[in-house]
Amino acid sequence: MNKIFAQTLFLGKNLIDLPECHSTNTIAAELLSRQSVAEGSVVTTDHQTAGRGQRGNSWEAAAGKNLTFSIILKPSFLHVQEQFSLNIITSLAIYDLLTELLPPGLSIKWPNDIYYYQQKLGGILIENTLKNTSLEWSVLGIGLNVNQTRFKDGKASSMAIIAGKDFARAAVLERLLLKLESRYLQLKAGGVAALRKEYLSRLYWLGEVHTFRSAGEDFNGKIIGIDKVGRLAVCLPDDEIRYFWIKEIEFIR
Ligand code: BTN
Repeated sequence: MNKIFAQTLFLGKNLIDLPECHSTNTIAAELLSRQSVAEGSVVTTDHQTAGRGQRGNSWEAAAGKNLTFSIILKPSFLHVQEQFSLNIITSLAIYDLLTELLPPGLSIKWPNDIYYYQQKLGGILIENTLKNTSLEWSVLGIGLNVNQTRFKDGKASSMAIIAGKDFARAAVLERLLLKLESRYLQLKAGGVAALRKEYLSRLYWLGEVHTFRSAGEDFNGKIIGIDKVGRLAVCLPDDEIRYFWIKEIEFIR
C-alpha cells in the first residue's frame, strides 16, 4: 500500500506495513508480547493469508484490494465490564467514514459488523489483555472490503461495488484512523452515554420483528438494545427480554 500520512495525534504514527502476513491481529499480539509497542501503532498488510474473524470464523480478503489492519491501544481507563465500548467506538468510526463515502443504507449489525442493507462490507475482531479488573492492551482488527468486487459469499459487498468506483486504500485508511482517534478520545473523555446512544441509533434490525436462532431453536423477537456489558437484548412475543452473548445467537431472517 502507498505510504499513509494520517493527520492524527497518535493513531498510525507507528505503521508496520507488511507485504504479506497470516493475521495482523496475531502479529500485533506477538509484538505486544515480545517488545514495548507504542499505543496507536498499526499493523497493516496487503495480503492476509489466515485472517481471523469472530466466532472462530476465517476472514477472506483478496490480496491488494482491501484494508486488513490492526490497531494497538492501551485502554487501561476501561474496567473489564466496559470492554464493549471498544466495539462501539470501532464500529461507529467505520460507520462515520463510510457515511461520507457511500450512499445511505449503512448500519451496524451487533456486535460490530458493518452492513449495507443486507450485505456485509466490514468486520471487526477485538482482542484484549487484562490487568486485574481493567483492560491493559487492546488489538482492534479491522477488515474492510474496499475494491474487491467478487466474493464467494453472496452476503458480502464492498465499497467499490456500492459506489461503482475504486477507492485509494491509503486515503481510506488515513481517514478511518482520524475517525477512530476522535471516537476513542470521546470515550476517554467520558462520552460513553452519547456513544451508546449513537451506536443504538445505527443498529441493524433495531425495533423490528425477526427470526433468531439460539441453542438450535428458532424464535421471533425484536432487538430492543444492548445491556451495560454489551449483550444483545431481544424482546420475545410474550414480552420476556432475553440477553445474548455473541456465540449464543444467530440472526436468521
Ligand atoms: C468478523 O467479521 O468476523 C471479523 C473480521 C475481522 C477481520 C480483521 S482483518 C484484520 C484483522 N486481522 C485478523 O486476523 N482479523 C482482523
